[in-house]
Amino acid sequence: MKNSRKLMAGLGLAAGTYVLAAGFIAFSVPGAEVQQQGADSAGHAQDHGHSHDHGHSHVDAAQAEQLTGPFGAHGDRHPQAPGFASAADGLTERRRRSMSALSGHFRAISATVLSDAGGEDMIRIHADALAALGGQIDKLFKVASPAPEGEKGALAAIWEEQERFAQYTAAFATESARFAQTAREGGDMVNGLHDLRYYCVACHADFRQR
Ligand code: HEC
Repeated sequence: MKNSRKLMAGLGLAAGTYVLAAGFIAFSVPGAEVQQQGADSAGHAQDHGHSHDHGHSHVDAAQAEQLTGPFGAHGDRHPQAPGFASAADGLTERRRRSMSALSGHFRAISATVLSDAGGEDMIRIHADALAALGGQIDKLFKVASPAPEGEKGALAAIWEEQERFAQYTAAFATESARFAQTAREGGDMVNGLHDLRYYCVACHADFRQR
């Protein structure tokens, strides 16, 4: 069992390396049609399947922004959009990216604590990042920026029931700080993850269209 898991992990790693290598080749050989498709799938994998547009979409290799540095020139096919149609659109982009960051830190800790991914020495870094972002989560909702009716995203209730919503952001700020303290003191992280996740899930259930 243990061995076959290792084998699977090894295969996964090899596949990932292959995709990375394919992307690298595509970047260094502009115009190679088949290899560019490899780069496409690598780029999409990084965006982990979001169907909605985050305001800056993926461009062709020819339009990629050229970046130079010690490892040679490389084209970035996901350049930042030059601007947003409105302040609400800009905030929505930043909110989604910040939520993804919260999620990344959360899942990195879960991989250590709930699975056997190692990384005990990095739990505190992720927990501190969660607390730093969590302490300011209310700022991600400063400008009314609901998703269009029926689409995925923030619900209008956030700005229609501001006092109720403020209880959710405040509770998350408190809990993420408590979580970081538990990590610092070497407390029960399994319970800590459970307790923190409650606040993610409750806010999503009541204020997010999925
Ligand atoms: C106070 C409310 C609230 C809390 C707490 C909260 N979220 Fe969210 N989250 C939202 C809302 C609202 C959206 C939809 C934002 C949008 O699309 O504009 C969202 C979106 C997301 C997304 C999707 C981002 C994207 O790219 O579309 C992820 C992932 C996410 N949250 C993860 C988390 C995790 C993990 C936690 C807890 C560690 C958390 N959230 C805590 C309200 C919250």
